[in-house]
Amino acid sequence: MSLKKTKSELAKIKKTSIIVAKTLKFLKTKIKPGITTHELDVQAEQFIRKSGGIPAFKGYRGYPASICASLNEEVVHGIPSGRVLRDGDIISVDVGVELGGFFGDAAITYPVGKISQEAKKLLDVTREALYKAINMAKKGNRLGDVSHAVQSYVEKEGFSVVRDFVGHGIGASLHEEPQIPNFGEPGQGLILEAGMVLAIEPMVNAGTSKVVVLDDDWTAITRDRKLSAHFEHTVCVTYSKAEIFTRV
Ligand code: MF3
Ligand code: CO
Repeated sequence: MSLKKTKSELAKIKKTSIIVAKTLKFLKTKIKPGITTHELDVQAEQFIRKSGGIPAFKGYRGYPASICASLNEEVVHGIPSGRVLRDGDIISVDVGVELGGFFGDAAITYPVGKISQEAKKLLDVTREALYKAINMAKKGNRLGDVSHAVQSYVEKEGFSVVRDFVGHGIGASLHEEPQIPNFGEPGQGLILEAGMVLAIEPMVNAGTSKVVVLDDDWTAITRDRKLSAHFEHTVCVTYSKAEIFTRV
């Protein structure tokens, strides 16, 4: 079965993805020492709804909020709370939107105030790993080429890739086939076709790749409590590098 989307489906996924990108850009202006992750969640939900969208994460498998806000050693799926952002933190914000039956999904890790050199390198490497993956997501390449692009670059820079969570296809559902690991062998796996839509999302740890899920059943943290970063884009495979849908 082909995972290619029709022109009309692509247009709708792109329209939704633009709301995701605008929400992340809006949240960037709110991220400062003193704000709580709950306040970010409230602001994000208002912004998404004003834009005509629905927060896709809210109620997804019982998830209680509109965004994921993962601080420092939190890898992904941090639940917004009364926790206050402090100078020197890093915060991964993950946003999903539904509009007209189609989904978009993206994440950015932002610095709060002035961060350490190590934290800055982690953000730069994770962002760059995502762009390397996007460049490999073209017609005729294989999924393993995309996965390997992330793993090889991240490990060369001395960090580790998380193995317990993966990227995914996206479209009429938030999570579709294929799964997109952030590690793998070049030349292996699904052959990519133009018109496939993928949410590529490297999660990169400063120390061990191992993660633990907290008692809230959502928040994943690094086992060694070292920093973690997460960048994600919804992209469309083309004959050259993928087109980024979650961009403004
Ligand atoms: N970007 C994440 C993912 O694709 C966010 C999911 S949060 C959830 O898995 F609440 F929706 F699960
Ligand atoms: Co995702």
